[in-house]
Formats: sequence, structure tokens, C-alpha cells
Amino acid sequence: MNAAPAHPVAAVPESAPARPPILSVDGLTVEIDGRYGAATIVDGISFHVAEGETLGVVGESGCGKSLSMMSLVGLLPNRIKVVGGSARFGGKDLIKASKRELRAIRGGEIGFVFQDPMTSLNPVMRIGEQLMEPLIYHRGMKRAEARKRAGDLLRLVGLPGAEARLDNYPHELSGGMRQRVMIAIGLACEPKLLIADEPTTALDVTIQAQIVDLVKSLKARLGMSVIWITHDLALLAGLVDRVMVLYAGTVAEDAPVDALYAEPLHPYTRGLLASIPKLTHEGDKAERLASIGGTPPEPGRRPKGCPFAPRCPARLAVCDDTMPPLLAAAGARPGHRVACHAVNGADRAIAAAEPAR
Ligand SMILES: Nc1ncnc2c1ncn2[C@@H]1O[C@H](COP(=O)(O)OP(=O)(O)OP(=O)(O)O)[C@@H](O)[C@H]1O
Ligand code: SF4
Ligand SMILES: [Mg+2]
Repeated sequence: MNAAPAHPVAAVPESAPARPPILSVDGLTVEIDGRYGAATIVDGISFHVAEGETLGVVGESGCGKSLSMMSLVGLLPNRIKVVGGSARFGGKDLIKASKRELRAIRGGEIGFVFQDPMTSLNPVMRIGEQLMEPLIYHRGMKRAEARKRAGDLLRLVGLPGAEARLDNYPHELSGGMRQRVMIAIGLACEPKLLIADEPTTALDVTIQAQIVDLVKSLKARLGMSVIWITHDLALLAGLVDRVMVLYAGTVAEDAPVDALYAEPLHPYTRGLLASIPKLTHEGDKAERLASIGGTPPEPGRRPKGCPFAPRCPARLAVCDDTMPPLLAAAGARPGHRVACHAVNGADRAIAAAEPAR
């Protein structure tokens, strides 16, 4: 039985970004070469980031947030590779770029803050040296100048006793301090694009707020674009311009942040938003939280149709066999796209698939 679509079925083109895109990703596909053959981890995702824009990337653990971004800068682990798509940045396709070209871009024009500072920082290299390296390599600074700038950067990210910390090794710092060092390294060369992978997860809320303010002020000062990966939809509200919701390596929904909060369309996004803790006004008692039953599928075990179908409260018969395409949602805000048959209508899915045949 087909439920009536929540929005009228009509072809609404995605609106062009207001500012030129600094990064345009099209059909990015990443596979892992597993024991039982290749399995898709990131399945043809497309998105753009405009100049000076902040894109939030959300989704549960394992949905491909980190690997999709690491694939842009040539940092995929062994056995995992990009098998399709393009990523235009500064006139180049990052996917086709040589290792040498990527090394020149990484840490320079694209700063990356890794999810796990302990494995990303070199344990046998002093913090100062790790901060100075990109400044010497990308900016051609002399050692004395790079060391001074390294101290400034540590102060910028609010590390107590900044200069003295330059001679510390990573194990001499707390988890939160290491995270700040990673952020300082990501920002060292004042990149055009900062990709921050869960940069505040290990930090307490006050420091988290300071880091968010820091990135916002740098963004305003440098006109930097940012991709901010997180589990935490609540954190994104005051930070990002647009949100891309990933599920099992696919884009479930993509929208301006206020549109996504005001009118989430995908049942998965609705589930994520319903699980954010809120305080009620009556006695400031916490509400009972909703949660999404089940877990995302492992790579290689994705259902044939909509990957969210086994967990979806709005599931239709068509959902089991036909993958919903990501379409501009009719009647919704420009730039609001969603991959859901219940929202878009299955006939649009069939029409969208036709030109490809
Ligand atoms: N080195 C690896 N070897 C094998 N599989 C991996 C590896 N890294 C990630 N994967 C798998 O790829 C999928 C996507 O992983 P990814 O790290 O991109 O998820 P994520 O969305 O960043 O999750 P989290 O929120 O936990 O960081 C997961 O199913 C994960 O198990
Ligand atoms: S396509 Fe179907 S299963 Fe997937 S989210 Fe929409 S209603 Fe649910
Ligand atoms: Mg991750």
C-alpha cells in the first residue's frame, strides 16, 4: 500500500549555491576489499561546499562520514579505495590527483583535523615540531618563524602554557589538549577548506563551545570553508549553514540547517532529531528520549532497496526493492533534497532512474 507523499510530486531542480563552490563532489564511491570480495562503503555521494560555507555531516557510527572525507585527501586505510566519482577543488580533481599533488594540498589548502588525535599525532615527535612541519613545508617559513607561529597557534586554540607545550610529546598531554593540538595543526596554514572530523568529541562542553567559537571567528576572518563531521545534531545548530545526513554510505537528506531543523523530511533525520535531549520548561525535567530501533547495516550487507528500510517506521512496499534517489523535495525550501519514496513518491524515483538506462 502506498501512502500519499508528504509533498506534492513535482520536479524541482536543486538551487545553485549562492556562492561559488570551493569543493564539488560528484558520485564519490568507496569500496573495501574484504574477505568475501568488494563491499561498498560510500555509495555515489554528491555534495558541494561553497566559499565561506560550513557543511555539517551527520550520521550514526559506521555510516561513512570519516572515510568519505579521508578519500578526498588520499588518506584511506589499506584495502579501502575510491572506485568512482570526482571531487573538484581549486581546478583539480582530487580523486585523480597524484600522491605528490595531494601532499601539497593536504595541510596547506585543505586542513584536516582527525577524529583520533592519539593515532594521528606522531608519538615520538614533539608537539612543536609537528606544528612547525606544515609551516615549513607549505609556507616556506624558517624554523624560528615557524616555532613562533606554532606557539601562537597553541595560544589560539587555548592550550594552557602554550609555548612550554611545544617541547612536550603527545603522551604528556591530556586527551582534550591533544585534540586542541590537532585543531592547531589543521589551522596552521590558514586553509581554504578545513575538514574537522569529530573535533570536539573528547572535550568537555565549555571547551567544546570555545572551539566552536574559534572556528566561527576564523571562518569570518579568513573566509574559510568548513566541513564539520559529528554525531551531534544539536551542536550543528549554531555552527553550520547546511547539513548532509549520511546513512549507510548514502546521502539521506541534504538541506540548509534551519530547514532541516524546522522540517526534517527523511524518517532517519526525524529519528536523529527526536533523540536530541531537550529540557522542558515545566520544572526543567528531561523529556523521555526517542531512539531509532536497530543498527545501520554493515558494508556488504545493505538491503537491495532503501538502506534504512529495516528500521523505517514509514516503510512502503516499494522501499524493499527500489533505492530512493536524492531529489529536491517539492514544496520544501530550495536546496532541500531527500532520498525517500514516502516523501518524493515512487513515481519520481522511476522517472529519475530512466535517463540512466
Ligand atoms: N580500516 C578499516 N578497515 C575496514 N573497515 C573499515 C575501516 N575503517 C572503516 N571501516 C568501515 O567502513 C564503514 C565506514 O566507516 P567510517 O569510519 O567512515 O564511519 P564513520 O561514519 O566515520 O563512523 P564513526 O562515527 O564511528 O566515526 C564502517 O562500516 C567501518 O566499519
Ligand atoms: S524510502 Fe521507504 S524505507 Fe526508506 S526512508 Fe523512505 S519510507 Fe523509509
Ligand atoms: Mg568517523
